[in-house]
Amino acid sequence: MSPAPLHPLAQAANESLEKDCPVLLSMLSARGKRFFFPAKGILAQSGEAKQKAKTANATIGIATENGAPVHLACVNKYFQGLTPAEIYDYAPSYGKPDIRTAWAKKQRQETPSLGDHPTSNPVVTNALTHGLGLVGDLFLDPGDPVLTPDLMWENYNLNWETRLEAQFNYFPFFDEKLTGFNLAGFTAGLAKFRGKKLVVSLNFPNNPSGYTPTKAEMEGIAKALTAEAEAGTRLVVCVDDAYYGMFFDDACDKESIFGRLARASNNLLAIKVDGATKEEFVWGLRVGFITFGVKNGTAGAYKALEDKTAGLIRAYVSNISNPGQSIVLKALGDPDFRKQQAEKVAVLRSRASIAQKESRKAEYADCWDVYPFNSGYFMCVRLKGADADTVRGRALEELGVGTIALGKQDLRIAFSSCADAQIPLVFAAVAKATRAVRGK
Ligand SMILES: Cc1ncc(COP(=O)(O)O)c(C=O)c1O
Repeated sequence: MSPAPLHPLAQAANESLEKDCPVLLSMLSARGKRFFFPAKGILAQSGEAKQKAKTANATIGIATENGAPVHLACVNKYFQGLTPAEIYDYAPSYGKPDIRTAWAKKQRQETPSLGDHPTSNPVVTNALTHGLGLVGDLFLDPGDPVLTPDLMWENYNLNWETRLEAQFNYFPFFDEKLTGFNLAGFTAGLAKFRGKKLVVSLNFPNNPSGYTPTKAEMEGIAKALTAEAEAGTRLVVCVDDAYYGMFFDDACDKESIFGRLARASNNLLAIKVDGATKEEFVWGLRVGFITFGVKNGTAGAYKALEDKTAGLIRAYVSNISNPGQSIVLKALGDPDFRKQQAEKVAVLRSRASIAQKESRKAEYADCWDVYPFNSGYFMCVRLKGADADTVRGRALEELGVGTIALGKQDLRIAFSSCADAQIPLVFAAVAKATRAVRGK
């Protein structure tokens, strides 16, 4: 069966890409090529009526009363400081214009290496998971290769491998001696796909290890990607900045690699997936962003990518929580925002430093190696001589300590969710469980 003919708006978006950034067109999945934002349908007619319908506006699909969205007192009593329009109205599929502008400004302030290089406007997503899903929808066909570190968030597999049938290839995140990022392994991993299209996933601070590369390492990663793109590989690099800002050591590079990659090569599309979830401690509000950057990016090419993204959003969630966006926007504009955020990061920094000290105690040297960590919410240990899930079960059932087992050897410990005084107990319990499982 042949698919439906390409919609003229998809055709127009593809032509924009073809004209300005032809490599980007070739990177899109079949679905990505097909998608468009239905700007001439109901939404456009509603927009036109908003300007001109002075007598009555019978276009919008919400109920209104006295010029505001209808709402119930039993719902409204839970909100303070937001107008009914900021809570109940639909947000645009691209996200509310003000929060897109505010987030773009924040990204640029935090990413000096972007300079004045143009990027797309961020499109609002249902937090980062959805942003990652959109990256997959736009750029992954079944069988397409993905290069990712062996230490990564497991939901990538569900999202891109199980859902979209991409083909995952792993490189070891750390070098053999566990001193830092495995640049040699990463570079060798890239080289295997020379001349092809490759989606690369980078996530710093990393879940699960809690590692952010040093400035020198980050420079090395950017150079390796640029060289590979210049050698002819079409790279889609997904930069997952979920834990951005949670840096606890001066050695880690505090700037997203997106800034360098967005201007690296015409063959390299950098995609920043970020959001308020972890940075602003609003996990349940579900506000994230997806932003595109490429060396030869133009307003026309970025618009085509934003339209395709918003079209996908329109197709299966229509738009993202309005109150979530309204609250995050107000927080970003609050004069105390940075101060309050820094206070909470300081709480995590203290926990990370206790975890550093406890995990590296000589008395635990027989139980595990500690993966390097300097940022984020987590740290990981590599157990010696005991199966990770068995140790996890033992620590939980017998000692009441919950951790996450990853693969055969690794245990992830979220110091972010333990009070200072609990952290020593966690490591003592894991050591006890390890020795019990090992029988010595
Ligand atoms: C690396 C990474 N990316 C993305 C996410 C998803 O975050 P969100 O809750 O914003 O969807 C997580 C959440 O655990 C994560 O660890």
